[in-house]
Amino acid sequence: MRNWLPLALLATAPAWAQEEVPFITTPDQVTLAMLQAAGVKASDHVIDLGSGDGRIVITAARRFGASGLGVEIVPELVVQSRANARRAGVAQRVEFLEQDLFRTDLARATVVTMYLLPEVNLQLRPRLLALAPGTRIVSHDWDMGDWAPDRTLTIDVPDKAIGREKLSRVHLWTVPAQVQGLWCATGAQLEITQRFQAFSATLTARGQAASGQAAPVRVFDGRIEGARLQAVGVHGDRLQWQGGALQQDDGRRFVRAGAAGCP
Ligand SMILES: C[S@@+](CC[C@H](N)C(=O)[O-])C[C@H]1O[C@@H](n2cnc3c(N)ncnc32)[C@H](O)[C@@H]1O
Repeated sequence: MRNWLPLALLATAPAWAQEEVPFITTPDQVTLAMLQAAGVKASDHVIDLGSGDGRIVITAARRFGASGLGVEIVPELVVQSRANARRAGVAQRVEFLEQDLFRTDLARATVVTMYLLPEVNLQLRPRLLALAPGTRIVSHDWDMGDWAPDRTLTIDVPDKAIGREKLSRVHLWTVPAQVQGLWCATGAQLEITQRFQAFSATLTARGQAASGQAAPVRVFDGRIEGARLQAVGVHGDRLQWQGGALQQDDGRRFVRAGAAGCP
């Protein structure tokens, strides 16, 4: 038997009760705000984790032309979602699967939407952070602990069914490229420390670093926006200055250091 406790109560309930999230729908205006915050467009593939009656994925297809997948553990809701998609005329672009969200392959997603619980968001967090840089994550009401959102919107929901606050929060994250570590270029090396979207990079002239002399070092901090660190583009294991921040380094290409450091 499912535990249909209000979401607000489950948020403080013991772990055994948080294995499941009850079915509570995202109001239409919040659904729209979530999809707009993520900038959903026709080329996007939206995955809703715990898709309920399918409304988020169906709206993404109907209003923005996106394709989508909803995964939902309650079979009746999957049947209802498919019927809703047919009625909305988007059955060709969306799919609903009866599936555990924790066993869902997220690789195709360009946008992930969630209306779950804080603990569930935190459990999903490592998998979300491993998605392609630039993937947008939108969560209704619940955040992801110390992975601060890039943006939070507050929307009045006078008829909200749960909680004392008659409003919803929409949190948006853009998955940052993983750039932590040492990067090497001809004549220079770059040591980057990263905490989610924030980075601190130290650029050192390599000949001097290796000889133990005091190397000219420049330290700069900034934010990672998807696959870009401000003036630096990240392409898998390559990183390239693209102008602006450090003019004399423009066009310089760095590759990830091997186990032995920079050659
Ligand atoms: C709060 S509702 C949100 C529904 C929909 N996403 C929306 O925003 O309107 C959460 C949904 O997650 C589903 N759910 C809970 N645990 C799940 C799991 N492990 N895998 C897939 N779906 C799950 C519930 O059945 C419920 O329909």
